[in-house]
Amino acid sequence: MARIEMQGLVKTFGTDTVVDGINLTVDEGEFIVLLGPSGCGKTSTLRMVAGLEEISGGELRFDGQLMNSEPADRRSVGMVFQNYALYPHMSVRGNLSFGLQSQRSRGSRRRAKAEVNRRVMEMAELLELEHVIDHRPKELSGGQRQRVALGRALIRQPQVFLLDEPLSNLDANLRDRMRMELSKLHDRIAITTIYVTHDQSEALTLADRLVVMHEGKIRQVGKPSDVYESPADTFVAGFIGSPGMNLWQRPWTTDELGELSLGESIQLPRSMVDVLSRSGRDVTVGVRPEHLHLVNGGESDAATVWCRVDMVEHLGSHLLVHASLATDPDSSVLAHVATNVSLQRGESIILGARAEHVNIFDTTTGQRTELMTEVARA
Ligand SMILES: Nc1ncnc2c1ncn2[C@@H]1O[C@H](COP(=O)(O)OP(=O)(O)OP(=O)(O)O)[C@@H](O)[C@H]1O
Ligand SMILES: [Mg+2]
Repeated sequence: MARIEMQGLVKTFGTDTVVDGINLTVDEGEFIVLLGPSGCGKTSTLRMVAGLEEISGGELRFDGQLMNSEPADRRSVGMVFQNYALYPHMSVRGNLSFGLQSQRSRGSRRRAKAEVNRRVMEMAELLELEHVIDHRPKELSGGQRQRVALGRALIRQPQVFLLDEPLSNLDANLRDRMRMELSKLHDRIAITTIYVTHDQSEALTLADRLVVMHEGKIRQVGKPSDVYESPADTFVAGFIGSPGMNLWQRPWTTDELGELSLGESIQLPRSMVDVLSRSGRDVTVGVRPEHLHLVNGGESDAATVWCRVDMVEHLGSHLLVHASLATDPDSSVLAHVATNVSLQRGESIILGARAEHVNIFDTTTGQRTELMTEVARA
């Protein structure tokens, strides 16, 4: 198991910089997930680590050793791609052993063969493929094919395991199952892993640490729960979550009661006034849809939002309410509401959020501020 260090890693194609100075250390045995919108440089980063793409700038180290000019086959990397292309004419056994047979074998040929056989059966057992060991890919289910692809990469006992959207070809149910299987597999073999996805539930369940990328740069690195609860900036806030965080960027005023109101549709507690005035910053207020609830009066919420219902989506476990701020029909408010509530288009509603669920960002820089923490302390 290797520790991977990326220092100022850069990838350029012609005049385009697609990976723009990535600094990241992946600890031995750690499971890192790279998440970000299409084209942000996830695959390019992975391919540089694998040695499939030349590194344009910066340094890549495995266990302290510089890897920049080491060829792919000397990096001890196992890689699984989105279209995991198994050899169609070979059985599961053949696919698994293919990589091993090309490795130089020590000792007699018979011993080498016995050794290959042992490792194939071990891998088949680990991935629960023993009963289909003599089947060809076309006789396998999608999940079984996926496991053969994982096995083929793992059987050479790589130091580093790289996966690029390995589950995106599977249907939703199978993907959920494979996600859990991958997680269990990692618990058992604890290999240093970088996993690329744009599926949020995959990212949040699998990652020891999550890396959110945007336009070739890292925006935030952290435990999934930290990234979810305390996004570093408005990009991460809007990107993480399904749907992402509501972000309201409005001029704020104080009313005659001394309460702070943003564009007259959002009210924050009086204690915010002092803190905001002192900070002198333009702020963007962020609350996740799942942290907004219908207010029936009498509740003391940190943030109160007046809005009008535009549309209601039934999502099985909850309703997703699409609304706009009462004073601005072009604004957007998304809220999760229990399915037993009936809401009509055009209806006026009031939503509330607790203090710990209100995020304040600096509008100019987009960065998260700790103004709410200051209010809580005051
Ligand atoms: N061989 C190449 N030549 C030129 N540009 C490339 C090449 N490979 C990738 N790019 C560009 O680099 C950028 C990053 O691509 P990359 O494949 O790393 O994105 P990604 O984050 O993996 O996206 P996706 O989620 O769509 O897979 C894109 O704008 C892409 O067009
Ligand atoms: Mg990609």
